[in-house]
Amino acid sequence: MTSVNVELNDRSYAIAIGEHLLRSPAAFAPLARGDKVMIVTNPTVAGFYLDTVTRTLTSLGCEVSNVQLPDGEKFKTLDSLNLIFTALLEQKHARDTTVLALGGGVIGDVAGFAAASFQRGVRLIQVPTTLLSQVDSSVGGKTAVNHPLGKNMIGAFYQPAKVVIDTTTLSTLPMREVCAGLAEVIKYGAILDYAFFCWLEQNIDKLLALEPATLAYCIQRCCELKAMVVANDEKEHGQRALLNLGHTFGHAIETHLGYGNWLHGEAVAAGMMMATALSHRLGNICQNDVSRLERLLARANLPTVSPDGMTADDYLPLMMRDKKVLKGQLRLVLLKQLGQAYVSALNDIDSVKAAINDCSQFD
Ligand code: NAD
Ligand code: GLY
Repeated sequence: MTSVNVELNDRSYAIAIGEHLLRSPAAFAPLARGDKVMIVTNPTVAGFYLDTVTRTLTSLGCEVSNVQLPDGEKFKTLDSLNLIFTALLEQKHARDTTVLALGGGVIGDVAGFAAASFQRGVRLIQVPTTLLSQVDSSVGGKTAVNHPLGKNMIGAFYQPAKVVIDTTTLSTLPMREVCAGLAEVIKYGAILDYAFFCWLEQNIDKLLALEPATLAYCIQRCCELKAMVVANDEKEHGQRALLNLGHTFGHAIETHLGYGNWLHGEAVAAGMMMATALSHRLGNICQNDVSRLERLLARANLPTVSPDGMTADDYLPLMMRDKKVLKGQLRLVLLKQLGQAYVSALNDIDSVKAAINDCSQFD
């Protein structure tokens, strides 16, 4: 088991990474005898892992109950949040309870928001079971639900007390979901770490084959990068916004198509190409590096162009609802070069539209 720390003074926490951690009582510290735990999961993940986690926590002496939300991005809603509150109240959970999110980013984001708001905040433990949630969403304390008018529009910053990453859970993950997770992995290389980007170019096939040592290094490196960014800028006043490369375009795709039609990682992949095309148009990243990013995303079986039929005019109103918009001005994450990103306010909407068109498929 390796450990990466997120340094946030008295709210610091460890990310435990290893094989078969769901079976390891030690991995779940600070949970201890007498603690009451509400596991939030969904039927898909429960079928694979709920019994194991329940057994491990029971062996620790915890009192364990669970609530299962319907599976899918379209259920990342206030209604699902309310299912958790109802279960907590019906089963007499109080301020000293722990909410444990067992699942992918959807479960983590909804359960995290429930923990942030139930009785004004109870302990949260994240147990991510998708690649995307292991490298990104379980770390850093962003929690949210969607609104029909915009993705992740209602939520809170709320840090977990622990993240437990059992890499063996990825063996049951559908390959399309593995690829979606690789979009966020590639993002880290593109925005922060050129050496990691080059490593990904060399190791993407091993990652697709879920080669254990390669996967373990990849997850650890992503967690280290995210931990560093979150420690420097927990509430996204500066550097943390870089983690949103491609997300303003990507969230527009997810909202326009209806939540769940394109996976989050797929939308982010196409969005990263749009942000990169825009960066190139504005005189930054060179064409060779644009092509390297496109090739790496394509090798990970990710889309690099806009969904069929979605036009630049479909994107812009949705992009203007992005959380980075300040005083009505669009702000986007752009690339100076591979491994170096920056945030820029943009008035040049024609260039944004042109970049979207660069990444569109015309018949
Ligand atoms: P997801 O949570 O929908 O999980 C994908 C699918 O895999 C689901 O059907 C799920 O039931 C299933 N699944 C999960 N683990 C499994 C396993 N081990 N074996 C088999 N099936 C399994 O999707 P995701 O990609 O994990 O998360 C996407 C969400 O994360 C989006 O809502 C996105 O907005 C959010 N997100 C949040 C942050 C953050 O910082 N909070 C960062 C990135 C993304
Ligand atoms: N995934 C973006 C963030 O955590 O800030």
